[in-house]
Amino acid sequence: MDSASSTHSLPPLDAATPEDVSGRFAELRARFDGEAAGASDESSWKTVRDAWAGRKSGVLVQITDTWLKPAKPDLKRAVGQALNELKGYIESALEARRLAIQGAADEAALLAEREDLSLPGVVRPLGTRHPLRQTFEEIEKIFLSLGYTVVAGPEMETPYYNFEALNIPEHHPARDNMDTFYMAAPPGSAPFAGNAQGEPLLLRTHTSPMQVRTMEKTEPPVRIIVPGKVYRRDNPDATHGFMFHQIEGLAVDTDITFCDFAGTVDYFVREFLGPKVKTRLRPSYFPFTEPSVEVDATCVFCGGKGCNVCKQSGWIELFGAGMVDPAVYGFVKYDAKRLSGFAFGLGVERLTQLKYNVNDLQLYYQNDVRFLRQFA
Ligand code: PHE
Repeated sequence: MDSASSTHSLPPLDAATPEDVSGRFAELRARFDGEAAGASDESSWKTVRDAWAGRKSGVLVQITDTWLKPAKPDLKRAVGQALNELKGYIESALEARRLAIQGAADEAALLAEREDLSLPGVVRPLGTRHPLRQTFEEIEKIFLSLGYTVVAGPEMETPYYNFEALNIPEHHPARDNMDTFYMAAPPGSAPFAGNAQGEPLLLRTHTSPMQVRTMEKTEPPVRIIVPGKVYRRDNPDATHGFMFHQIEGLAVDTDITFCDFAGTVDYFVREFLGPKVKTRLRPSYFPFTEPSVEVDATCVFCGGKGCNVCKQSGWIELFGAGMVDPAVYGFVKYDAKRLSGFAFGLGVERLTQLKYNVNDLQLYYQNDVRFLRQFA
């Protein structure tokens, strides 16, 4: 823009009468108005100011030098008066313009900084509890309501706690499906302080070692459940994995009968799978319970009528359990003549599978949100 040039050179005053003088000044004023109106920011405003009011070569100074000083005496008064008027006009117009520009800049800055409260905000996706965790919590709640305490134990175990103290001696066939995942012991390290003889360690194959560890440390009565991970030599398929989750249960007191056992198991299954489900106990074998049972429930998919899942039997196997074998009390210095109790080992994957009709155990570990979202 032409007005942005910082100097204007003023032509000589072309005037014979005071009217001519007014005309020249009116022309200048109109030109100034045009330039001032085009100044929309601080830097263009400064350019206009310097061109017109600059102390060295601004138009006002030039008027003094080029028009006023050499003016003929009969026009001098008119030029001086018009110059004063123009000077006052330019100064106040420049100040008004400066304030307007400043105000607009302040407003723009405010607008730029303003928070738009109508914006939708940052959506942080909320996770949900894993289905296995949900089952853990549900089962824990049921047993907490029966007065049980939740305890945890080491995933790395000594053969003594995993086998021997549970009445599974070295060459017992019950070890076959569990004899697995051994590793060198970190000597003397807790919780393996009793392992000074350098016994190898293994990843526990069930949560039952915590029966022994708890009874070693606690006087009866005992009522505990033990949630945790266990490890086996299984190849992964729809119903197996090298790792799965169990919840061990143990109740020992002076007057616990098989009826207490059956009642507790039945109560738990109905609380977990629903009041319509019936249970039955089927003879089984575990070295550390006697008698031992498998707890079956009426099939949750067909209601007991018979279907593919229950292989037309109407019953589904839930978990192993039994009355604590008196031989186990011998390992923890409990009085087997005075005490009795029961134990059970719940498979968390299996119970989750039955409750939510999950047909492949591997789905629990693949972290596919399309699977996990169904449990939100
Ligand atoms: N520990 C057994 C298993 O893992 C289950 C079980 C626990 C059976 C407690 C009886 C009592 O197969």
